[in-house]
Amino acid sequence: MPTTPEIVRTVGGLRDRVAIWRRDGGRVGLVPTMGALHDGHLALVRRSLDESDRTVVSIFVNPTQFAPHEDFETYPRDEARDIAAIGAMGTDVAYLPDASEMYADGFTTTVSVAGPSDGLCGAVRPHFFQGVATVVSKLLLQCLPDRAYFGEKDYQQLLVIKRLVRDLDIPVGVVGVPTVRESDGLALSSRNAYLSDADRKTAPLLNATMRQVADKVAHGDDVAMAETWGRVQLQDNGFDPVDYLEVRDADTLAPIEGALAPRRLGRVFAAAYLGKTRLIDNIPVARAP
Ligand code: PAJ
Repeated sequence: MPTTPEIVRTVGGLRDRVAIWRRDGGRVGLVPTMGALHDGHLALVRRSLDESDRTVVSIFVNPTQFAPHEDFETYPRDEARDIAAIGAMGTDVAYLPDASEMYADGFTTTVSVAGPSDGLCGAVRPHFFQGVATVVSKLLLQCLPDRAYFGEKDYQQLLVIKRLVRDLDIPVGVVGVPTVRESDGLALSSRNAYLSDADRKTAPLLNATMRQVADKVAHGDDVAMAETWGRVQLQDNGFDPVDYLEVRDADTLAPIEGALAPRRLGRVFAAAYLGKTRLIDNIPVARAP
């Protein structure tokens, strides 16, 4: 039955709720978000609702993962609409801490995850993964769910979170959920709302080009040549700048020399701007049989 979720704004309030559920033997799922919810986020919520007795959705636009020149101030916010959307699905708690609850005066601790944070988005947004790793560590420790749900849309972020949970012995299962796309292939993103009409028409070419790169790599083309081909395609179609288009090992994110070896799983990663909007996407690639 659709309900209105309980709104919780403090760490203590969240812990009290979860403690009661746990006493009753309930399995708890957490879905961390920054709001402006779309069907991609809601796929994570659906998965948590399916697998858990209780679901918490957190909505917190985390200032520490934005650089000063980025869009923290203008990031889309619509609390009432978000709460209605997750309530209609049956979410138990909407956790909406404010910045002073999350980062008390004098806060100085950060979590940085070497390895999966290096390269790709970590190279062009140097403080981003430290901001993400710190706030996700806090959210996991505040809620202590059985499982937490993250999208493959942000695949490098997913690997960073899996690593931090392992390295810090945080007793939470991290579940990756496949990317939800528009019918033309564009991955759903809160930032798609920034696209002009003309840029929205161009945007699916990001995924289409990545699929062509994956096809070349699947058929044994040299990875560096396929990457260069893809970057030129994107530039010729008006993506400017192209932050990266790279094929990496799907588990370690290590670069790939020469052709992709049979049985090695790769992943095509791209980030590129249309106007002021930065789009990112990734897709799997394996050698064709
Ligand atoms: P946000 O961009 O709001 O995304 C919240 C979650 O939704 C992330 O796990 C993201 O990967 C997932 N998601 C976004 N678009 C998706 C899509 N099209 N298909 C499937 N999943 C999708 O990512 C963040 O927030 C933040 O960095 C956060 C983890 C909350 C830490 O602040």
